[in-house]
Amino acid sequence: MIPVSIGRRFARLATNAAVGRPRLWGLFRPLLRRQFDALAPHWDSIRIEDSLVPYETALAAVDPAPSRALDLGTGTGVGAFALARRFPQAEVVGVDLAERMLEEARRNTPEDLRARIRFRRADASALPFEDGSFELVAHANMIPFFDELARVLAPGGRALFAFSSGATTPIYVSPERLRRELARRGFTDFAEFGAARGTAFLARKPDRI
Ligand SMILES: C[S@@+](CC[C@H](N)C(=O)[O-])C[C@H]1O[C@@H](n2cnc3c(N)ncnc32)[C@H](O)[C@@H]1O
Repeated sequence: MIPVSIGRRFARLATNAAVGRPRLWGLFRPLLRRQFDALAPHWDSIRIEDSLVPYETALAAVDPAPSRALDLGTGTGVGAFALARRFPQAEVVGVDLAERMLEEARRNTPEDLRARIRFRRADASALPFEDGSFELVAHANMIPFFDELARVLAPGGRALFAFSSGATTPIYVSPERLRRELARRGFTDFAEFGAARGTAFLARKPDRI
């Protein structure tokens, strides 16, 4: 297995490359996928205890409630479970590149959520969904692919980004950069959150672009 410190540095490098020059993502994808496949059986014991608090804090500010919500880079599914609990009427999809992460997510899905959550293997840079398929697209500790997330979001939908350890999270994008990238695509209503050890960011896609 890749030593944790090297894995963290690699995740930071891949994030900066994919955000700054999305065409480079193809070079990083196989390695990152292999890294997360290897981490999958241990992921829930590695995650910091309050890792989802920033995500849940931003979720509490999402209004109106979405009827279709997407958790990108879902890993073992914790974000997807939080979405389904927060929005009891919503259909939730969790997407990840790493099949072993998804195996854990499927196995961990609580019985009462099974009818509303599905997990699917896909790359967030080229999603197998129609334009405007979701009213909420959420990321917990996940590299954002701005054009693609804007495409699958419905007009007026919300994009959410959370980082469990704020600026020291291996996969991290600063609020300034999130604001810049999203503003370029017409997003508004930016909100920043600090909760537990982390940070989160929320933005609204315009009604029309
Ligand atoms: C740091 S983990 C976060 C997992 C989970 N969201 C959490 O907070 O516990 C990042 C996850 O994103 C997935 N991932 C990275 N790049 C991806 C991409 N382009 N498309 C889909 N999943 C991706 C990885 O396989 C990994 O499971």
